[in-house]
Amino acid sequence: MNPLLVVDDLRVSYPNRDGAYVEVVRGVSFTLGRERLGIVGESGSGKSQTGRAILGLTPPQGRVTAQRLTFDGIDLLTCPPRQRRDLRGDRIAMVLQDPKFSLNPVMKIGDQIVETLQAHERVGNRVARKRALAMLEAVQIDNPERVFGLYPHEVSGGMGQRAMIAMMLIADPDLLIADEPTSALDVTVQLQVLSILDRLVSERGMGLIFVSHDLRLVSSFCDRVLVMYAGRVVEEIATGDLSHARHPYTRGLLECLPRLGGDRHPLPVLNRDPAWAS
Ligand SMILES: Nc1ncnc2c1ncn2[C@@H]1O[C@H](COP(=O)(O)OP(=O)(O)OP(=O)(O)O)[C@@H](O)[C@H]1O
Ligand SMILES: [Mg+2]
Repeated sequence: MNPLLVVDDLRVSYPNRDGAYVEVVRGVSFTLGRERLGIVGESGSGKSQTGRAILGLTPPQGRVTAQRLTFDGIDLLTCPPRQRRDLRGDRIAMVLQDPKFSLNPVMKIGDQIVETLQAHERVGNRVARKRALAMLEAVQIDNPERVFGLYPHEVSGGMGQRAMIAMMLIADPDLLIADEPTSALDVTVQLQVLSILDRLVSERGMGLIFVSHDLRLVSSFCDRVLVMYAGRVVEEIATGDLSHARHPYTRGLLECLPRLGGDRHPLPVLNRDPAWAS
């Protein structure tokens, strides 16, 4: 069977002030099946830019190239913009890093979910409403009827994030890219949201790319991890094998995880080697 997603030598660059293009994603390659892939790396390592390029949401001044970028056999680099738009939300969805920028502030949450569903499927208003409520319930919103009628600013951050996830999942995507979907949430809510995503991956056979800077979270939740550093993948490893990680950056990240019961004062500091970025 074909992999769901093939990314081969993906590069994203932006013009600097002199007009010369600077690469922020520098030759990323991986394939994804219906599994949970984590992407970890420090701030600025190119995680979000990788996700956005797959979705076709790179801002217009950016340049995207690849040897191959295919989703379910469809060439994303050459397919018409119209087809790309149809794929987005319908078969590929992304939970953006900040839900505040993704939910429309002047539209009630329920109406946004209904609109998303109706953009991708021909369903009448009554059915759409029923399915939106069911989806709010699926992301463990206790009082879906109430939340349906609220505006984004009227709900908490955690609720907003869940509403966002509901909106992304209503069209039943084959691939979900979740960019730091839980970083704004407190720990208990984080774990709830993760278990929702986890259930959806196993129940719906969805592929998931989970972007985070938190190696511990990723390793508890994903099958495989890509470790990014300065725009490149420096290591790809099954989470079960992390203790055998070879790259010094990955090893450094592991070293820096505080351990329960461990007596580590001071916590080790990650010393970066300029050679990792070359
Ligand atoms: N529109 C843009 N123009 C120029 N450079 C950009 C643009 N968007 C992002 N970049 C640069 O691309 C690099 C990678 O950014 P990216 O957002 O992918 O990092 P990240 O790994 O997601 O970091 P974080 O953990 O902070 O979210 C950064 O150096 C950033 O400054
Ligand atoms: Mg990011």
